[in-house]
Amino acid sequence: MASGSHAHGSGVRPMRAERSGALKGACTVPGDKSISHRALILGLLSVGETTVSGLLEGEDVMRTADAARALGATVDHLGPGSWRVLGMGIGTLLEPKGALDFGNAGTGSRLMMGVIGGHPITATIDGDASLRKRPMGRILDPLKKMGVEVIAAAEGNRCPLTIRGAKDCIPIEYQTPVASAQIKSAVLFCGLNAPGETTVIEAEASRDHTEKMLAYFGAEITSVPHGPHGRRVTLKGRPELTPRPIVVPADPSSAAFPMVAALIVPGSEVVVRSVMMNPLRIGLITTLKEMGADITELERRIEGGEEVADLRVRHSALKGVHVPAERAPSMIDEYPVLAVAAAFATGETRMNGLKELRVKESDRLAAVADGLAANGVAHEIVGDDLVVSGRGKPAKGGGLVATHMDHRIAMSFLVMGLASEKPVQVDDTSFIATSFPDFVPLMTRLGGSLS
Ligand code: S3P
Repeated sequence: MASGSHAHGSGVRPMRAERSGALKGACTVPGDKSISHRALILGLLSVGETTVSGLLEGEDVMRTADAARALGATVDHLGPGSWRVLGMGIGTLLEPKGALDFGNAGTGSRLMMGVIGGHPITATIDGDASLRKRPMGRILDPLKKMGVEVIAAAEGNRCPLTIRGAKDCIPIEYQTPVASAQIKSAVLFCGLNAPGETTVIEAEASRDHTEKMLAYFGAEITSVPHGPHGRRVTLKGRPELTPRPIVVPADPSSAAFPMVAALIVPGSEVVVRSVMMNPLRIGLITTLKEMGADITELERRIEGGEEVADLRVRHSALKGVHVPAERAPSMIDEYPVLAVAAAFATGETRMNGLKELRVKESDRLAAVADGLAANGVAHEIVGDDLVVSGRGKPAKGGGLVATHMDHRIAMSFLVMGLASEKPVQVDDTSFIATSFPDFVPLMTRLGGSLS
């Protein structure tokens, strides 16, 4: 049973980043977190053996592996990044014996709620103190329409919560209230065991890994434009999913940290290898280029069904820009590190439409603003927008940043400290292990001073 306490049992680990010499060298960041969760889920839902290479072996994904085991799959670690899932197939999942503890992972918990929702089993979903604060009603609402029963939930539809999946799953057409791949994916995963067509409509397109991977495993699924920025996704229920080998490309959301570090530390030149360039994930790269970042694609190619590129990033004089709200879904996890880049840019960077940041691993809008304040960076929150006023020279630094169990807050402000006038401290780095276990050694190898 989850305790709602610290995710790792290893205690709080503060860290300090200080002004570093030029960052140099090539690096490979871990596999994409979104694809890693989905690889294990698709393995669970197809009959037979799915092999995965490049899986992110971070704590979030390991919780999804544990949940897949509890639901009946055999999940084996074959070697670094190399995994095998022996799946049970749609409709055959077992009722888990204990509560499923997803730790810090919103994606794992929400996607698995959809999977469970399509099966006549009862399961309790729980996680750490951060996950217990996050809204789950956005997933329960459509699942209830599909026949899922909520047996128990903490106040405000939060974890721990117990659901009973649908005996006869009802296919629905659902318009998501916010652009969220987690909502879309939960509905589609539930719809896998519904007779007929399940449709999800989104006003702004969110990441499309679930659709692409379901198609790769043989499901009939279509995605067509809906309005100026949206999509209408339709899945035919009860497909026979056929296991296929999955190659997980490097996570652009993790690549963001060495990239921004290279942009703000003078003299730097870093190559980040094989970064996934899925158009629905690279809003940060678009934005940084608009800011004047020297980012060059050395080689674009297809790996594992996704476009990837080696990215060469050089220190650059950045200027403030306006980031439109409609770009948010394609860079939703990158705003904390963009705010750091903006602190070093000349002039104002206005980031519009950041409401969703309030319900991530922490209230990221507040956590970023507090971190900027602690380090002498002028900024303002206006409604759901964040405005950062850069000085066109190193941020002052010198602050202690509260990370609120949020890996991306910890990594973003450590990056700031590598180039700020005074060192930046973060109160806890232990949650970095949820998504980027190798972050500190990787940044250190490039020349970053972290201690
Ligand atoms: C994810 C979707 C995003 C993102 C999260 C991963 C996914 O959340 O923030 O880190 O893998 O589907 P929302 O879809 O709720 O915006």
